[in-house]
Formats: sequence, C-alpha cells, structure tokens
Amino acid sequence: MLPDALRQRLRLRQHTWLVTGCAGFIGSNLLETLLAHDQNVVGLDNFSTGHPFNLREVKSTLEATQWARFRFIEGDIRDAAACAHAMRGIDHVLHQAALGSVPRSIDDPITSNAVNVGGFVNMLVAARDAGVSSFTYAASSSTYGDHPGLPKVEDRIGKPLSPYAVTKYVNELYADVFARCYGMCATGLRYFNVFGKRQDPNGAYAAVIPKWAAAMIRDEEVAINGDGMTSRDFCHVDNAVQANLLAALAPEAARGQVYNVAVGDTTTLLELYAGLRSALAEQGLQYNRAPVHRPPRAGDVQHSLADISRAAQALGYAPRYRIHEGLSISMQWYLQRERQLLGSAN
Ligand SMILES: NC(=O)c1ccc[n+]([C@@H]2O[C@H](COP(=O)([O-])OP(=O)(O)OC[C@H]3O[C@@H](n4cnc5c(N)ncnc54)[C@H](O)[C@@H]3O)[C@@H](O)[C@H]2O)c1
Repeated sequence: MLPDALRQRLRLRQHTWLVTGCAGFIGSNLLETLLAHDQNVVGLDNFSTGHPFNLREVKSTLEATQWARFRFIEGDIRDAAACAHAMRGIDHVLHQAALGSVPRSIDDPITSNAVNVGGFVNMLVAARDAGVSSFTYAASSSTYGDHPGLPKVEDRIGKPLSPYAVTKYVNELYADVFARCYGMCATGLRYFNVFGKRQDPNGAYAAVIPKWAAAMIRDEEVAINGDGMTSRDFCHVDNAVQANLLAALAPEAARGQVYNVAVGDTTTLLELYAGLRSALAEQGLQYNRAPVHRPPRAGDVQHSLADISRAAQALGYAPRYRIHEGLSISMQWYLQRERQLLGSAN
C-alpha cells in the first residue's frame, strides 16, 4: 500500500516505466503496484532467476484494462540492443535486473560481473541515449563490506567482501561517472535484506526468509549459518516499492544520490527464526523442530543495520511495515503458494 501523497502523484499523470527484472521478486512487486495505479509499464527480463508464474500472478491481481498497459520484452541486459529497444518512450527506469546472492557470485564471479556490471552499463547508456526523466537502480547494503560502523551511513563504506558486493559498488561508481561525464543522474537504492511475496524459496541461492518459511511449512529442517547472533535489517518489499517510486519522482536535488532502504530495526537470525514460527502459528500451523547450526558463510557480514534518515529527509521515505507485520503478511502468501503447488501436484 502506497502513502496517500504518492498515490495522488501517480493519479495526476500516467507515466511510462521500464522495470527490468520484472519477473523476479522486487521487480514483480514494482510491476503490480505501478499497474494497479494505472501506469504504463514495459518489463524486461530473461527469466534467469525470475519466473513466468510471477507475471501470471501479477496479472491475476489486476483488472484487464490495467494489465493491458503492460508490455513484456523477453531479453537480456547483456544485450545492448535489447536495452535500447526496451528504453523507447520510457519516462522512468527502475532497474532491478541482476544476479543476486553473495554465494552465487563466489561460485561464478564471471557471470555475476557480466550481468551486474556489463548489463548495468548497457542500461545506463541506453537511458542516456533515450533521455529518460529518471533512472533508479537496485544497489545493495553489501557495499558496506567490512566497515565496522553501525548503523550504516551512506558515506561510510568499507572494502567489499564478495564479487557480488564489488558489482554493486561498481554500479554506484558508474552512476557517479555518468553524472559527471554526461550529466545523467541515476539514483541508487541500497536495499537491506528485502523480503515478501514472490521471493523465490527454492534453489541453492534462496534468501533466508523464503527458504525458512518454506522449510517450516513443509516441516523440514531449518539451518542457521553461524550461532544465530548474526543480525540484519529486514525490509518488507512494500517499503522498497515505496522507496523506488519516491526516488523516481523526486525533485532534481534529491537525484543522483545513494539511499539506504531498510527499516532501521535490528533482528538476529534466532529472532527471525522465532518470528517466522509465530507467523506460522498465526496461520494455525506449529513448527516444533529445533534449528541446526552450520558454519558461518564466506562473504557474509556479521551485523547490518541501516540509518534511513537520508532517504527519509530527501525522499520522504517512511517504511510502513516493520518485520513482524511483514513476516505475517509474507507467511500468508507462502502458505497459499505451497497449497497451490500441492493442489497442482495432486
Ligand atoms: N532481495 C534483496 O534483499 C536484495 C538486496 C540487495 C539488493 N538487491 C538487488 O535488487 C534487485 C532485485 O533482486 P530480487 O531479490 O528481486 O532478485 P530476483 O532474482 O528475484 O530478480 C532479479 C530479476 O532479474 C532478472 N535477470 C537476471 N539477469 C538478467 C539479465 N541478464 N537480463 C534480464 N533480466 C535478468 C531475473 O530473471 C529476475 O527476474 C537485484 O539487482 C538485486 O541485486 C536485492
């Protein structure tokens, strides 16, 4: 749900948006919100980690006239011509397409770099040439690397701890250089552990919340990397959607910056485990297994917590959902999805 002021601004004008990675988790949530507010959207995705069923689910939530405002292009951001094609007639770019996951980038740094850096430069060039009004991109809290300071403040970063973190930091450097060389402003949103509906629970590189939610629903083992005292600033996806739209529609002075997108709350993995169990219990299901502990993962930081005051002041960002409400909403969705999967298997 968007804040009223943002809804009104969208009502004033029908913009045309390009959402890359629209078949993925955050991209499909952006797509749903924009179409639900009668905006025109072009989507670009190659289905490498996104799924056609995410698009089908978005379609199922909308009226036919709203869905008709969506044009999907199956294409790869590593292909400069595909980026230029997708950019035609676009007002605002919300660039989400990338290969996420620290472990994936450690296993295969070449592909993460090709997509996250090469694809990013293709997108910047295409946006520059098309003269779009705004360019907002998914940056990452991994850019804080080994900086010990807490909470994380945008201007104080350390050395990256993984190839993924390097790619996301390079995005910021390129955005800055495009402003200097071509006068093009791109705004980076450093997401901190975003979670919510349509985040993929499956595969080796799944994020912790969908992975644990699915394991609890299926009554499977939950594995904690480390002693459980690792902490994160978990951010419900609706907060990230709000930040994207605010950044895209922000006045000139607020553009071309990087902003933390989180809640400003700290949650340990043990607290997360307990929170997910109670979200499941709210749905009438009990999970009674004790978690198992594994060694900490390479490339992971021990603690991550955002200072969100820059985004609050410059963009008017005000996260609507804190972790418990977010877990509750997300668990309902994961349960519904598991039931659908079971239904289609029988
Ligand atoms: N989810 C988080 O907590 C989080 C945190 C920090 C940053 N991010 C960033 O946010 C963005 C979205 O992440 P997400 O969690 O929705 O991941 P996701 O994997 O669900 O979505 C990424 C989408 O990009 C598409 N994609 C990947 N490579 C592509 C390519 N070469 N060409 C076209 N499309 C391609 C995928 O198919 C997928 O649909 C990414 O840039 C990610 O790095 C996410």
